[in-house]
Amino acid sequence: MKPSSFNIVWKLSLISFVLAAFTGFLYRYGMLYPMPAWLNFANIRHAHSHLMFFNWISPPIIVWFVKSLHQHGSPLPERSTSWCLYTMLFLGFLSFPFFLLYGYHSVSIGSLSLPLAAIISGLVMITWYWFAWIYYKHKKTSDGLVSFSLFDAGLVALMISSLGAWGVSVFQFTDIDSPMISSAMTHFFLSVFTEGWAVLGILGMMWHHAEKKKNDIRLSFNPGWLWLPVLFGSMLIFPFSLSQSLVTPVMYISAKLGLILIVISLSLNLWLFIRSGAFRGFIWRSVLVLLAFKIVFQLLAILPTGIWPGEHGLRVLYLHLLLLGFVSFVLFEMFLSESKKYAKALFAVTVFGVLVSLLFISGYWPLKWSPPDTYFWVMVLAFLPVVSSFWLLAESMKPKLRNV
Ligand code: HEM
Repeated sequence: MKPSSFNIVWKLSLISFVLAAFTGFLYRYGMLYPMPAWLNFANIRHAHSHLMFFNWISPPIIVWFVKSLHQHGSPLPERSTSWCLYTMLFLGFLSFPFFLLYGYHSVSIGSLSLPLAAIISGLVMITWYWFAWIYYKHKKTSDGLVSFSLFDAGLVALMISSLGAWGVSVFQFTDIDSPMISSAMTHFFLSVFTEGWAVLGILGMMWHHAEKKKNDIRLSFNPGWLWLPVLFGSMLIFPFSLSQSLVTPVMYISAKLGLILIVISLSLNLWLFIRSGAFRGFIWRSVLVLLAFKIVFQLLAILPTGIWPGEHGLRVLYLHLLLLGFVSFVLFEMFLSESKKYAKALFAVTVFGVLVSLLFISGYWPLKWSPPDTYFWVMVLAFLPVVSSFWLLAESMKPKLRNV
């Protein structure tokens, strides 16, 4: 892939991040101040989360591995890969106004009434299949590297996650009226996408970093332990996102088993990362701490602590710790060169501010220890990553990005 295409994909992804982050701030603003009647919270949340998922998570992970495959002597076809990624990003942007204005509701066009945002989301998923087809058809070698094993497993998770999303659409056309099944399929998509695709793709990038540093990362066990339990676990844990009253004992036990698998595998990854000594500096250390927090959170959900990860406040805190913290830190650290270290450090500080503010409203923080006007400060802190990511965007517009 040409360096110019690589840079364009990164910049478009970063623009998506800034726009989606601003939408997240808008949600917090709307909780305190009046907003236009045509905006509602559910739609703002959809616009925010879909743009983050479609354009911030997937294209940068994919483009990173496309470039590193090129460097391992197995280039993917330049034109079709670039077109696939540009179409993916274009459709991600296109979905944004439709989610913001209509959410999943149908829009009248002449005599037709169509759920446009859902249709565009379906097209985005087709671009994922398009990429997977190009990848499996043309990939020749990856030299048995752990980084590529994790990316491959992540890609499988992406394909599997999409089945949940298709399931929701198909289900709408059946006579069965069960919010439980529809919600289960939505959460199946969300868990396999985040815990499977996003986590494995990002761990793959971290392994790539460690392999490049050629640090001591010899494995004394089968490398499958680094990804297989995460892949299977991500498919089992969705019941934890449902309302506790809906979950049957069998679902509960399989979800716990899924968490156990994930915790074992992530702990192994974390231990090897620490031992490799390849992750130095403020951002990398923060990444390791965030990964440790993620493991502890999931461990607490396994133990009989009474913590239910699907509770709204806790869920929002956990998702942002994982996606805004762990995943986004790795993306910025991998894509932006050393010279951007102050902008990256500021971004990290603003993200920690958001995470602390989400802890205050998680439902698990004593009210007496919260600052007065908590929601006002939550809103102010939500604006800060918009500013810091805008600075990173401005920095990214300058040459040159870190070499893969
Ligand atoms: C940049 C700073 C960010 C801000 C200020 C922000 C803000 C918000 C807000 C206000 C909500 C709604 C919370 C609620 O329903 O109570 C939300 C939900 C969500 N955000 Fe973010 N967010 C940010 C970054 C991200 C990132 C980077 C991702 C993913 C890559 C993400 C994914 C999500 C998801 C999936 C939800 C829906 C959670 C649910 O299931 O209800 N956010 N965010």
